[in-house]
Amino acid sequence: MTTIAIIGAGPGLGSAVARRFGREGFDVALVARDAARLDALADALGTEGVNARGFAADVHDPEQLRAALDRAATSLGPVEVLQYSPLPRWDFMRPVLETTYQDLIAPVEFSVYGPVAAVRQVLPGMRELGRGTILFVNGGTAVVPHPDRAGTSIAFAAESAYARLLHDTLVAEGIHVAQLVIPGAIVPGHERKDPDVLAGTLWELHRDRHGFRHFADDLDG
Ligand SMILES: NC(=O)c1ccc[n+]([C@@H]2O[C@H](COP(=O)([O-])OP(=O)(O)OC[C@H]3O[C@@H](n4cnc5c(N)ncnc54)[C@H](OP(=O)(O)O)[C@@H]3O)[C@@H](O)[C@H]2O)c1
Repeated sequence: MTTIAIIGAGPGLGSAVARRFGREGFDVALVARDAARLDALADALGTEGVNARGFAADVHDPEQLRAALDRAATSLGPVEVLQYSPLPRWDFMRPVLETTYQDLIAPVEFSVYGPVAAVRQVLPGMRELGRGTILFVNGGTAVVPHPDRAGTSIAFAAESAYARLLHDTLVAEGIHVAQLVIPGAIVPGHERKDPDVLAGTLWELHRDRHGFRHFADDLDG
């Protein structure tokens, strides 16, 4: 049995992806800051037959994140799929002319240091398995920077570059790296942007293993 680790496992997309991959036979490592909420989500998934456990960490602390993923692999089994999808803070989204270099520290920690720490932690296990999938989930500013959302625009662009480099470098080892860009908001009931539909899209990215960047909806949708 192998594991999906979901970094940013909340009630929306995180929990939908946990259900989707759990249904396919994956054990699920839920990573976010609030341990009590993770335990409650793991219990709820358990009643649906999904083997899930919470591993608390703040992605702003790369050592905490590394340790959480280490505990996850030890208790559940090697991480075959890593999804990086924590929800960015609203205060990352300031107008560009009001953004100082200090305002960019947290967005870069969140979108660059966190992913680099997480990927480097799980990569040896994927190499040992001989397969793996790394999924990055971002908003539309990853592709089209927005003047009122400087922090996410700048940091998502850097995260996208890192993810793209990983895609090109790891393809030869059977490790597939993909990015799902979700323009606008996640909307329950939406034909393409409902959390369960998005979870299905992410499952297909893992299963079908082609292409780097995918869009959940039209960029102006
Ligand atoms: N929501 C949208 O409308 C929307 C739109 C476009 C793209 N997206 C993308 O979709 C993904 C999020 O999906 P969602 O909105 O449905 O969220 P979700 O899966 O319901 O929850 C995400 C979780 O991220 C965790 N998180 C936030 N900051 C964290 C940190 N510093 N360290 C560790 N965990 C942290 C939070 O849990 P804790 O508070 O317990 O840490 C939160 O519950 C992200 O990749 C986001 O870029 C969302």
